[in-house]
Amino acid sequence: MCGIVGVVGTREATPLLFDALRRLEYRGYDSAGIATLVGGHIDRRRAQGKLDRLGSVLERRPLDGLTGIGHTRWATHGAPTEGNAHPHGTERVSVVHNGIIENHAELRAELEAAGQCFDTETDTETVAQLVDLNLKRGMSPREAAHACLSRLHGAYALAMIFAGHPELMIGARHGAPLAIGYGDDEMFLGSDSLALAPLTRRIAYLRDGDWAVLSRGGAEVFDAAGRQVPVEITTSALPGNAIGKDGYRHYMEKELREHPLVIGQTLQRMIDAATRRVVLPELPFDLARIPRITITACGSAFYAGLIGRWWLESEARIPVDADVASELRYREPPLAPGGLGLLISQSGETADTLAALHSLRAGGQHILSVLNVAESTMARESDMVLDTVAGPEICVASTKAFTAQLSVLACLAIATGRARGTISDAREEALVAALLDLPGRAAELFALGPAIQAAAAMVAEARDVLYLGRGAHVAVALEGALKLKEISYIHAEAYAAGEMKHGPIALIDRSVPIVASVPSGRLFEKTASNLQEARARGGRLVVFTDAAGAARMGRLAEHLIVLPDSHDFTAPILHSIAVQMLAYEVALLKGTDVDQPRNLAKSVTVE
Ligand code: F6R
Repeated sequence: MCGIVGVVGTREATPLLFDALRRLEYRGYDSAGIATLVGGHIDRRRAQGKLDRLGSVLERRPLDGLTGIGHTRWATHGAPTEGNAHPHGTERVSVVHNGIIENHAELRAELEAAGQCFDTETDTETVAQLVDLNLKRGMSPREAAHACLSRLHGAYALAMIFAGHPELMIGARHGAPLAIGYGDDEMFLGSDSLALAPLTRRIAYLRDGDWAVLSRGGAEVFDAAGRQVPVEITTSALPGNAIGKDGYRHYMEKELREHPLVIGQTLQRMIDAATRRVVLPELPFDLARIPRITITACGSAFYAGLIGRWWLESEARIPVDADVASELRYREPPLAPGGLGLLISQSGETADTLAALHSLRAGGQHILSVLNVAESTMARESDMVLDTVAGPEICVASTKAFTAQLSVLACLAIATGRARGTISDAREEALVAALLDLPGRAAELFALGPAIQAAAAMVAEARDVLYLGRGAHVAVALEGALKLKEISYIHAEAYAAGEMKHGPIALIDRSVPIVASVPSGRLFEKTASNLQEARARGGRLVVFTDAAGAARMGRLAEHLIVLPDSHDFTAPILHSIAVQMLAYEVALLKGTDVDQPRNLAKSVTVE
């Protein structure tokens, strides 16, 4: 789960590679490295940790050369040390890799027996050593790379350069995306078109199993059998300029502030302003005839899916299954023919979600994806995409993309209800009005800063925190707990409030704060009595509610945070923003690396 980039050109490669790595850092930041061809020899610089460390190394020891490859790593095989940082290789070849070579142990044993000496613990080095052996046996770089690829099992996107071949780069793709960029007398490889956006807009995506030979003048693409295949060059619409923090302390703060805008933009795409009705793009299937929906996603996107399930079931009365993508494909649930696979992903590159997409398709499902990155692998592989208009999300922890996903799912639930005749015009009107009201309500949330900061001071002292909710707000609790874990490293668990007395209540004492999301809706009384039970055992409560809820809550909560009034239907969206804001304030107090928390990566491209 790493970012890779390559350049064959006429300009100094290192600054281009370094800038592209900056744009790929969302894929991992355990280490980074660059290798170039200098006078026909391979030279490289690597550093453990974030890209800035590589920047300092390059300042001290600059790296020349017009052809080169770069890598930013999220460690899978081998600790995140400088020694295990890519590029890997020998004096003859240098390789960067995203993915996992599953048969690396077997290959390593074979290569060591053949006299190859390994420097690292990584699976990637087997690729370099295999190509090196092939080169030593007299193969050309092209033959050596092709022969190597036929031996690899697992997922990979690879880029390689070869000593003595200053205008040659070879790339390959199997199960991990790789884009070719076409410049003027220069060519590029990148994990995605975002990495290449400042370099070129002319992009071709390698198909699975294909590999490419690049020179300054162009690329030849071959299939696994070595037959040349045509390439389709598209024009990327991604902006080439760098994305800044606009004066905010962190990208997370900036992205939290963008909630109202993002919700508004996303709804604008799906709600006709004149008729105030939800209008979906024309779908290649009939929502009225779908027998069942299977929602799948990972992490926060999955929690958005849980709220989506609640809405779809209640408004459209359609059976909905929801499972995390890494489980769904192995559970192999029986799928109704002609059902709908509903995928949710910010990046559109998450390996588990992509694999689940493939198994849903194999199970005869239509594929509808809710995506933020229009030029992603999932976008290319779906029957239809509903865009979240969140813009680039840089902070590793998802915030605005989550509420944009919810905005899309809310509209989908309304459209499905209308198609199936389960909601009346009046109900649709009320739900659309509630949605259109959201950007304004979301903006009002920022006035709650001081109240949230006060609650954060209590939460920041804790080692464990319990998040509670009922109905759709169980998923709000899950989102709040995940965000707290991710960016403040405090252990948090989320529970359906009614489940608390079946176990977690044993944890409650003054040292375990409870954060509850309790709007004044149908489930208010029940949730409030669960909170009473916690309070009676010494639990200290942070309660997010609205004015009506606050009036009925009495003196139960130590921190009562009163959100703007909202419809029951849209309350989960406002509450999600509030719990994200709380996590941010706690992280500030803990002094953690908010935008790039340890061990995480923005896009999880390994299964
Ligand atoms: C949490 C978070 C992750 C992602 C998950 C899925 O803050 O960001 O849990 O939601 O890795 O990523 P996407 O949406 O890119 O598929």
